[in-house]
Amino acid sequence: MPARTLLTAGITGVGMSFPERRLTNAELETMVDTKDDWIVERTGIRERRLVERGVGASFHGAKAAEQALEHAGLKATDIDLIIVPTVTPDMLFPATACLIQHMIGADKAWGYDMEAACSGFVFALQNARAQVESGFARRVLVIGTEVMSAITDYTDRNTCILFGDGAGAVVVEAVDPARVGIIDAILRVDGSGADLLKMDGGGSRMPPTAESVAAKAHYIFQEGREVYKFAVKGMANITAEIVQKNGFTGPDVDLFVPHQANLRIIEAAQRRVGLEDRQVGITIDRFGNTTSASIPSCLRVALEEGRLQEGSLVVATSFGAGFTWGSVLLRWNAPL
Ligand code: UT7
Repeated sequence: MPARTLLTAGITGVGMSFPERRLTNAELETMVDTKDDWIVERTGIRERRLVERGVGASFHGAKAAEQALEHAGLKATDIDLIIVPTVTPDMLFPATACLIQHMIGADKAWGYDMEAACSGFVFALQNARAQVESGFARRVLVIGTEVMSAITDYTDRNTCILFGDGAGAVVVEAVDPARVGIIDAILRVDGSGADLLKMDGGGSRMPPTAESVAAKAHYIFQEGREVYKFAVKGMANITAEIVQKNGFTGPDVDLFVPHQANLRIIEAAQRRVGLEDRQVGITIDRFGNTTSASIPSCLRVALEEGRLQEGSLVVATSFGAGFTWGSVLLRWNAPL
């Protein structure tokens, strides 16, 4: 039997795409009983982007994927696997991965959607890494794309101020092992938190009916305060764990890319690991919480702001519905 080569996966391209339409806090003040000050102070969000009604997650997902491919210097036909983490697929089936494959002309790819809520991107990145390092897939697109506005109740001030639409994508492929790539991942789920952040309707347990629509079961439900407590602990602990486990300390981290759910949750994790503001990627002010799109789009913003260098040590951490949470540690390998 031929000896198996050891492969190291890394990110070699990143892209994002957001709708033009901005929903500002001032506009939300006219829709629900809320105040700009409250939203900024409690969440850090100033505005979020929304698609036009009828635009599915595939639309910005395909655009983000095309930008990631261009960044990696690849064509769509170079891709052999497309993984789409999303809670807002165009349809329950077929998979949004299939729709994007067709839109971008990735004629040699297979693909699938996966759902781990706000941790979707981090979980999918580990999926992609495993596929590449096993030698089964050579080049993988991971596309976090969401139309959160499709499942948001714009009469519920508890949730409608939080979420936004958009997409972020990365290319994962084998890199020179000397350049390291993805170093480690720690991933967790705890279904005991399932009822604290969920959408009850539309699945097999509660198919859509006139009653389920009237009961607003097809919108996001969140016990914000409870989720907040778990999120602070989960994000801070797992970020500290992956940094320490791999022999690093706070000052070694060049960029912490947290899931963008709440600025106060991000700051708690930042303090726990001992990071300065300049080490933390923040996009929540302009995009709100875009679920599986938040980490890849934050990476793209960091790249455009010149905050990533060859070999930068990056920690990406998420927490979301499920509960799901996880952290990935990597060296930056994509062109600058
Ligand atoms: O992304 C996946 C994971 N999700 C998260 O990580 C989200 C975690 N949770 C949070 O980020 C926060 O809990 C929220 C931002 C959702 C809420 O902030 P909070 O500081 O936990 O507020 P709260 O829910 O404890 O509400 C405090 C008060 C309440 O009034 P009373 O009961 O004290 O009179 C709410 O009714 O603020 C009120 N409130 C609002 N006031 C103005 C709730 N929403 C609003 C609003 N505008 N939009």
